[in-house]
Amino acid sequence: MKRKIVSVLVCAALAATMIAGCGSSSDDAAATTTEETATTEDAAATDDAAATDDAAAEDAGSGDVLTIGFAQVGHESDWRTASTQSCQDVFSEANGYDLQFVDCDNDSAVQLEAVRTFIEQDVDYIIIDPIVSTGWDTVLTECEDAGIPVIVIDRTIDDSDKYVAWVGSDFKTEGLACGEWLKAYAEAKGITELNILVIEGTTGASATIGRTEGFNEIAEREGWNILDSQSGDFTQDGGQQVMESYCKSYEGQFNVVICQNDNEAFGAMDAMKAAGVSYGVDGDVIIVSFDAARTALQYCLDGELNAVFECNPLAAPMVEEIIQGLEAGEEVETEIYVEESCFANEDIVPSITVDGVEKEMTVLTQEIIDARAY
Ligand code: AHR
Repeated sequence: MKRKIVSVLVCAALAATMIAGCGSSSDDAAATTTEETATTEDAAATDDAAATDDAAAEDAGSGDVLTIGFAQVGHESDWRTASTQSCQDVFSEANGYDLQFVDCDNDSAVQLEAVRTFIEQDVDYIIIDPIVSTGWDTVLTECEDAGIPVIVIDRTIDDSDKYVAWVGSDFKTEGLACGEWLKAYAEAKGITELNILVIEGTTGASATIGRTEGFNEIAEREGWNILDSQSGDFTQDGGQQVMESYCKSYEGQFNVVICQNDNEAFGAMDAMKAAGVSYGVDGDVIIVSFDAARTALQYCLDGELNAVFECNPLAAPMVEEIIQGLEAGEEVETEIYVEESCFANEDIVPSITVDGVEKEMTVLTQEIIDARAY
């Protein structure tokens, strides 16, 4: 895991503002919890509940309930479900948090509105997974003026630095890894000509931008033919629709399909099946995806996907570390890259070198999939 520690005067200032400015709302929340608990009929249950709340609050470090606003992208993919679940598990009531969760349904206007509502609510921290990477500076300035620290997860914000930390993936490296694997795989299989169709993610999302940039860099270097590259919006329906149209427009002309997430790949597989195109380990078309949630890994083990490049959705525990660090007035890591692996069905490309770093390709087994958290 790459971790970058940066001097955090700005974080300390924001944290100090937050501690001074938000104490009363936390106190109110704690008082409400106590009052509700006192009216519970079952005294034993009351004691247990109070003890659990106390322990949870102590675990959380400050003794107060922290209110966290989380503006999530939406619910477009298995990856997203895992990301949401991870945040809800970490920022639970039992752990001493009051999580205000907004599913923004892939709508940037809704996401900006959600952040403004969190400011009005005077939450203690705001977590944003930005649908797109631009258009953020004004609302982040509003967060800063309100003294509310913002933590960005997963995707990046490219037009503002008014947040205290970011935890997420190196999307360009994911794209490069996919390209390097494809080169080695084609060589190992004796495939000399690659005619590629790409199903991109949401336009303007840093996940799309980075994966496209990384993969295209290898494609250009190797002189591959990218026939087309269109957005499937990171959804199964989107992947299916794009692939249906590709099957008509490029009938018999392609031998690689790159899907920028698992769910698009599920849609693309359905479309190819319907069009009578064979794909996967024993098929005519190499198909890969990004994310590596359990269902996709199972498809890969079963030979329907040739390889899957992981995007790790479990950022929430690291975000909690940052929040607890800020609460304790400590310096925190301001840029954390999550760990990611690469998976394949066949044992013919043992490792790849990405930007000078050797990365092992994990050959899938049922044990790996069964042990997967999401
Ligand atoms: O930002 C991460 C990407 O967004 C994941 O690849 C995808 O599944 C999700 O929708």
